[in-house]
Amino acid sequence: MNPNKPTVCPYSTQTSRPDLPEITVEKRWSADELCTQLKPSLLSVSAIDLQTDAQGAWRNSVRCSGRARWRSLRVIDARSTNSVEECFDALFEHLKRADANRSAESFITVFPEFDPDQAETRIWNHQLIRYAGYPASDGSVLGDPMNVHLTQIAIDLGWQPPHQRSRFDILPIILQFRGKLHLRPIPKEYLAEITIRHPEHPAIESLGLRWYAIPVVTDMLFASEQAIYPAAPFSGHYVSTEIAARNLADLKRYNQLPQIAAAIGLDPSKHAKFWIDRALVALNEAVLWSFEGAGYRIVDHHTVTSEFANFCKKEDRNQRTVHGDWPWLIPPMSSASTPIFFRSFEPKIELPNFLYQELPWNTPSGQAALAAST
Ligand code: ARG
Repeated sequence: MNPNKPTVCPYSTQTSRPDLPEITVEKRWSADELCTQLKPSLLSVSAIDLQTDAQGAWRNSVRCSGRARWRSLRVIDARSTNSVEECFDALFEHLKRADANRSAESFITVFPEFDPDQAETRIWNHQLIRYAGYPASDGSVLGDPMNVHLTQIAIDLGWQPPHQRSRFDILPIILQFRGKLHLRPIPKEYLAEITIRHPEHPAIESLGLRWYAIPVVTDMLFASEQAIYPAAPFSGHYVSTEIAARNLADLKRYNQLPQIAAAIGLDPSKHAKFWIDRALVALNEAVLWSFEGAGYRIVDHHTVTSEFANFCKKEDRNQRTVHGDWPWLIPPMSSASTPIFFRSFEPKIELPNFLYQELPWNTPSGQAALAAST
């Protein structure tokens, strides 16, 4: 091979414009600010480019260990949605399609691109399906503590929580459209939830734990060099540790490890006995087994990291640097027993990519929309 000849790859995105701003992984962008810095060419992007850009954005996502599957991402083109109803329909259609094959396929729904002269479309929820969090006066929270603020906003906008509040009440979707906020509950037929059970420990089922089947991230900004999309929800399937070692386990989330330990006959007060570790394994087994039993795709942390290691090898062979954010790529348990623990990565952000956005209620347009809607 001639070393001076550039290799041409239709997906190669590593030859970025030299004038691009420095993008760091943590930075929260406003579409306005990114637009000023990026000056996207606003050429109308064809459906094929959109597909290539969306797949490239996934391939470039430094925090995602599931991106070996980047080529399989399917685009639902919702760029011509022109009303609140059309937007909600597109969101429900996304859930319907992701559910049709039990999250075996990944989708992205792309809403109209950002135009600095027009009110932007944004989804205020972090994911389409999320559980409400209700704070009590003693500082405890019923439900998911991560969603307390959004729950309050939903209530301010007129959402009525169920009569009997629970730890797993589904929040409505909050959509910012043409300067106003709109609220819609998700119809039951699009809501798949999994009851968490364990094949050998029936007491785990009595804890009443559940989780929704399909993660659909709704608050990231999809940016390419040509266009910026503040609303471009994407869905995939869960890694069991996301639910079992974080959402249900974190002290600041559902904090269920003491209950799991008790359910499998361990004394949570005896730290020396590795009760935390054993509870983590039991909860992971339960989550994996329950999802599989319900027919939904889910993957364990050993499988996903070995797929990721293969992805890295492939990219290396293509002489394409794999950028990554190490603490996010390695799983929250058994880290050193996965094949990527000893590899280091540079967390460099290349476009196309998915970027964090300013929290919607902190932006001037979000605050104005909130004031106009409450
Ligand atoms: N970590 C997030 C959660 O637990 C989901 C992020 C997306 N994850 C995925 N496997 N596509 O809800």
